Amino acid sequence: MKTLIKNAQVVLPTGIESVSVLLDGSRIAVVDAAPQTTADEVVDATGLHLLPGVIDDQVHFREPGLTHKEDLATASRACAKGGVTTFLEMPNTRPPATTQARLDEKLQLAAKKSLVNYGFYIGATPDNINDLQQATRTPGIKIFIGSSTGDLLVDDQEALERIFAETTLPITAHCEDETTVRANAARLAGTTNVADHSRIRDHTAALVATRRALDLATRHRHRFHLLHVSTGDETELLADHQGLITAEACVPHLFFAEDDYARLGTLLQANPSVKTKQDQQRLWQALVQGHIQVIATDHAPHTLTEKQQPYPQSPSGMPSIENSLALMLNAVHHGRLTLPRLVEAMCDAPARVWDIVGKGRIREGYDADLVLVDLCRTQQVCNATQWTKAGWSAWHGTELTGWPVRTWVLGHEVYREGGVDASRYGQAATFDHHRGGYWATQE
Ligand code: DOR
Repeated sequence: MKTLIKNAQVVLPTGIESVSVLLDGSRIAVVDAAPQTTADEVVDATGLHLLPGVIDDQVHFREPGLTHKEDLATASRACAKGGVTTFLEMPNTRPPATTQARLDEKLQLAAKKSLVNYGFYIGATPDNINDLQQATRTPGIKIFIGSSTGDLLVDDQEALERIFAETTLPITAHCEDETTVRANAARLAGTTNVADHSRIRDHTAALVATRRALDLATRHRHRFHLLHVSTGDETELLADHQGLITAEACVPHLFFAEDDYARLGTLLQANPSVKTKQDQQRLWQALVQGHIQVIATDHAPHTLTEKQQPYPQSPSGMPSIENSLALMLNAVHHGRLTLPRLVEAMCDAPARVWDIVGKGRIREGYDADLVLVDLCRTQQVCNATQWTKAGWSAWHGTELTGWPVRTWVLGHEVYREGGVDASRYGQAATFDHHRGGYWATQE
């Protein structure tokens, strides 16, 4: 099956140009197809932009074990709607993905349920070094240096040293210092004010744990990706570690700050906590400058009933997978970053950080994972139209300009204008770790 996407605006190394892109089966066959090119299907993309499908490297899709919150079918439909064609999922499911057998179980589930492409991290525990050493078909090792949802935690220095010294897969981590968080929580014991979440999981907690992880990575010369940066001070540290370490910002921290607790209450509660407006501005600055390479969601769905419990019973995290691209396109609309920078941070950089084969770019021979977006469309985020199982969004009522309209996964059109075609599944992403990651693949 050949599909010709005609006259689309595409971000190319030479700039944004109007080209016709020919898909042949699951691959991009020609990027600048001649006017006389024929195909089984022709899509008129005049006035629209064609982007590589978004690769979200930090999501929690809750399967197995927590499927009342989300599952691979509902989450991947939401991905298709949001222009996300590949997701990398975190290990804090139930049971947690801490062995190859559990990773394989997730891969098998996804093969039967996920409409988009997928990969699953292996979770570190204080004593599963053998599993971490032998793991295959995974983007890398996830360490919770600081506990969050679930009970994965590696806080012991000796265990951390061993993981960084004796494993070869890339490492990524949730960095919030457990001792600091516990001390703050004890000081604020009895609070029911959700704004205290940012005083318990404070700047120091983030900074201490991030320093610790960067120190481990630097001493052991181990590839390391810092998840969901939340403070301006962490961005300064990152600026000093270019060449070895990569980092990401997630949409909750890019779009919300402490002031928003008054309006959103526990819906805004996330780990790491959102910080001040100033921190938020410094995250944007680091993103624009390239000290933060990746944009992700940390899509962490909980039911509305769970979230509406009084603090601190309320769980941390919010759903965001189906709106992340629209949120960032809206930021482009308002001049906060350029479209090429968005494509780098949401598509190309995650592919390179995790050594994903054939994804992240509109190039001949690459996989036909694509999203067509309308930069002029203005629409509100609305709880009633969310496809994730949680069925609510912290952005409910927010008007955004720039929305995905059609999505292809491996050449198959999985989403078009509110409709989904669930007749085909995505595939496991391939990770070729010999490539050496983001810094080794700079052109
Ligand atoms: O807020 C969060 N929720 N942060 C995490 O690191 C985990 C996530 C979850 O799984 O709910």
